[in-house]
Amino acid sequence: MGVQMVPEYAQGMDLFHAGMKTGPRPLELDRSMALKICLPVAKALVHLHNNGFIYRDLKPENILVENPRQNQFDAIMLTDMGFVDRCAKGQKKSDFCGTIEYMAPEMMHNKSYGQSVDLWSLGVLMLEVGANYVPALFDSNDKVIEFKEQSIEKGMEGTQRFARFSREKKIRKITAYSPTVFQQDDLLLGLTLDLLRNESSMRPEADEVVSRLKTIIAAEEQAHASVKKRTVTSVSH
Ligand SMILES: Nc1ncnc2c1ncn2[C@@H]1O[C@H](COP(=O)(O)OP(=O)(O)OP(=O)(O)O)[C@@H](O)[C@H]1O
Ligand SMILES: [Mg+2]
Repeated sequence: MGVQMVPEYAQGMDLFHAGMKTGPRPLELDRSMALKICLPVAKALVHLHNNGFIYRDLKPENILVENPRQNQFDAIMLTDMGFVDRCAKGQKKSDFCGTIEYMAPEMMHNKSYGQSVDLWSLGVLMLEVGANYVPALFDSNDKVIEFKEQSIEKGMEGTQRFARFSREKKIRKITAYSPTVFQQDDLLLGLTLDLLRNESSMRPEADEVVSRLKTIIAAEEQAHASVKKRTVTSVSH
């Protein structure tokens, strides 16, 4: 008899509907929202990876946002354990599964792969929630591939092309596309690019991502607090 898993119900909607669908939506996806969303997602990956599992389908549709409203939410949950499998650190898998836009290049090349495919997907997710930039959706002329002509092959080409770019070229592409969100010399851009390394063994593990995200969030909160303090001081004079 098979095992049935019933996840806790998340009152709200998935991240795609909360922030990416066209039309009115509760969350404005920007750099600060990207940080708020990606930290709990990275923590969920730490939990899975440290318990010897690989996730393999990280994407906005599988991230549930509890009670999203006016640019805030109560919690983030990862759902859809359909492609989860046992794969401890250092172990390899070879089946082809997941969603093209978020799929790591080594899986596209039919190579064996490990937990670091989830870190590639997290890198794509960070680019998407922070800047609406998904490498698989761009052709060689930097034009967005129209949804109607979108195909598995084109998506794979887009990802593989981006994965092979030098770090400098990746920075040029991302900052040209989204000059205000990801800037040069930016810790968040640095982390995202480390996740999007073509060489899977060079990607940071999930627990390192959590600690780097916490550092970035703390620095931004401190900068925000000191701006607020300066504003209050200048108003009171
Ligand atoms: N625990 C939950 N609480 C509330 N809604 C959920 C929950 N789990 C899933 N959903 C909703 O149902 C949708 C589909 O769930 P899930 O991703 O598990 O199914 P799926 O058939 O594997 O979908 P897909 O193949 O498109 O990934 C999610 O995008 C989400 O909107
Ligand atoms: Mg799903």
